[in-house]
This record gives sequence, structure tokens and C-alpha cells, in this order.
Amino acid sequence: MSGVSLQPQELAAIAREFGTPVYVYHAEKIAEQYNKLKHAFSGSNVHFFYACKALTNPHILSYVRELGSNVDCSSINEVKLALHAGFEPERVLYTSNGIAFEEIAEAKELGVNINIDSLSNLEKFGAAYGHSYPVGIRLRPNIMAGGNLKISTGHDKSKFGVPVEQLEDILALVKKYDLFISNLHIHTGSDIKDADVFVKGIEVLFDIIPHFPELRSVDLGGGFKVPYKEGDAVIDIALVGAKVKEAFDSHPQAKGLQIWFEPGKFMVSECGYLVAEVNVLKQTPSTHFVSVNSGFNHLIRPMFYDAYHRIENITNTDAPKHTYSIVGNICETDTFAWDRELNEVREGDLLCFYNAGAYGFEMSSNFNSRYKPAEVLVKDGKPMLIRKRDVFEDLLRNIV
Ligand code: LLP
Repeated sequence: MSGVSLQPQELAAIAREFGTPVYVYHAEKIAEQYNKLKHAFSGSNVHFFYACKALTNPHILSYVRELGSNVDCSSINEVKLALHAGFEPERVLYTSNGIAFEEIAEAKELGVNINIDSLSNLEKFGAAYGHSYPVGIRLRPNIMAGGNLKISTGHDKSKFGVPVEQLEDILALVKKYDLFISNLHIHTGSDIKDADVFVKGIEVLFDIIPHFPELRSVDLGGGFKVPYKEGDAVIDIALVGAKVKEAFDSHPQAKGLQIWFEPGKFMVSECGYLVAEVNVLKQTPSTHFVSVNSGFNHLIRPMFYDAYHRIENITNTDAPKHTYSIVGNICETDTFAWDRELNEVREGDLLCFYNAGAYGFEMSSNFNSRYKPAEVLVKDGKPMLIRKRDVFEDLLRNIV
């Protein structure tokens, strides 16, 4: 929509070279997004931790590392992938939720930053390590935010974080084990377009900060909304930057603290394209279906969140437009989009699904025993295969 992008002819050429369905990522778009963040927050002591749950291919991780970003992980395996991609442990953050303490112990052995999200694990951490290892606490600020309930994580019914009203319990554990609390974390949701959500979060934290004299950072999570279609409401990242700066500058208790963010979608949503081929056209009395060689096994967001993904026919770009419903080949209702205008579609045409970088490949599966797609990274104008498409042996790999 704005900024650098890959053009239909380039995407079609890549699809022909590497086969379909294929995920294509554009390195320079990731750099552009990261630079927007750096620019927006240049007045504050901000550090970014790319929320790699959005897209963990190690080639993407090492590229993000080269850009200068740190990385936020949501499982011990993401931590290991980040280290494998070259991140130094101090640049890795593990924001855990509901995990076995063994994973926290493993993360500690690996030397990464850790956010703990329950009193139970905080107690175990205290008993094991006392003051010897700095640790963050994930708090639940009781703020409703984000694009829909499935991706809202900070409200008062959410499983995430220790509810702020349990501050006394946290303080009792800190005292009992002499815990070294270095970070306070909140993450209220994804697809947040209102800058004031971050201000509200900061206000919740400002009341709590004075209780933690060893605090080094305040972590405001991720959630910045990107555009999915022309004219879509997005977060005004410059406004968030200005408001965060104003809030921190006017609070003496925040002096010297680093501000951390964990952007996922903002970093990689727009860099990604899923290209699939049209298998079958089916005209029914009510609907003209376009069935592609992909489905919610590859891009689950439309079916799971009712998410809108822009779709284009990239091999018949000058033809007149007609209305189609685009469906996948999974043996279950599998609709990418109802009633979309596309340039006339023929069997064999290539369709491109935009905004496929974040939570696209990453949430894919082998449902219906279909293969996961290949992934290609375009950098300096050159496409490079960064993950092979599955082959039949992959479906049998762990069968005993
Ligand atoms: N930090 C934490 C602790 C998170 O849980 C998440 C996302 C992020 C950062 C990054 O949020 P982002 O900047 O990407 O909005 N699969 C859903 C999104 C779920 C997000 C889960 N947590 C989707 O495709 O819309």
C-alpha cells in the first residue's frame, strides 16, 4: 500500500521458479518497518524486541538481528531458534505464559531475559535463584484492547499475566526471596490502532514502578496495527512515540528506565505474500468459486479471526473485474474471502494473498496431510529459498 513492495510480475516469476503455494518475504520491507519504529521513538530510550512468534524462519531472525533489533520469544524453542540465528542471549527475551518451570530454568541456563506471568512460577523462580538472576513480571493491566476478543490479552478475564490487583502477593514474594525485579511487562492485544491504549498501560505501570527499586525497563509489549486494505485504520506510530515520550518525561519515577516494545505484525505482516495457483473455477447459481491449491492449513487468519487479506490475480492484471469467492482445497469449509472483485480468473492463474508475513506460515499445519509451503526471501532484488516445501517423507518422519 505504501512504501516498498514486490510487484505482481516479480511474485509471479518467483512462484514459477519455486512452485506454489509459496510464501515470499521482502527483506527491505522489514527494514523499512523497523526504521519507522526507530524514527517514531527516537526521542525516548526505546529498545525493540521483535515478537518472533509472527515469523520464525532463522533467515528472517538473522536479518532482523542485523537490523539491530532484539527478539521476543514465546517458547523455549523460539529462544533456541533465536540463539541459533545468532542473537546474543542478552538480546533475547522470553515472555512466558503458563509454562512448566523447567522451561524457565532452561531459559535461565541459556542466559536470556525472562518475563514470568504467574505467581506460581515467580515463587519457584525465587526459591531456585533468589536475587541472583534479574527477572521480569508480566502483569495483566485489565485494559481491553486489540482487533477482536481472540487477540485481546490484557483485559480482566484474560489468562495472561499476574492481575495488577495482586500486587501485594507479588511484593510478598519479592520480599520472601529477595527477587531482583528488572522488568515490568504488559501486552494488551494485537491490531491496536488507538495510541491511547499504550498511554493507559503506562499509567497502570507508573503506579507500580516505585515498588521495584531495581527496575531497569518497562515493557509495553506489541500490537501495533498495520493496514490490511486501502484506507484501513492503522496505528499512528509517530503519535505513540510522542505520547510515550511525553508520559515518561513527565514522570520522575520513570527516569533512567528503558522502554521496551515487542512488535510482531508491524515488523513482518506487510513484507509477506502467499502465492497460490487456481485449481478449479466453479460457477454455481449463487456464487462463482475460485478454488486455489492452498487453504486454511497455510493461512488460517481468515477462517480463525475473520481477518481480511487483500487478494489479487497477479497473472491477468489487465483483464476486467468480476466478483468471486476465493476458497481453499481443504475438506472443510475453507473460505479466504467472499464476493471479492478480481481481474478475470482462469484456471492456472496465480493469486496473491497480501499481509501474509505475520502469523501466516507460522500458523500453518499439515491438515489433510498436505504439505507446508516453501518460503522464499527476496533481498537486494534476489529471491532465495529459505525453507523447502514439505515432501511425502515429512508426513511420515515421526511415525514409529
Ligand atoms: N508480545 C507478546 C507477549 C505477545 O503475546 C504478542 C502477540 C506480541 C508481543 C506481538 O503482537 P503483534 O505486534 O504481532 O500484534 N495470531 C494473531 C495474533 C496473535 C498475537 C499473539 N501475541 C493474528 O494473526 O492476528
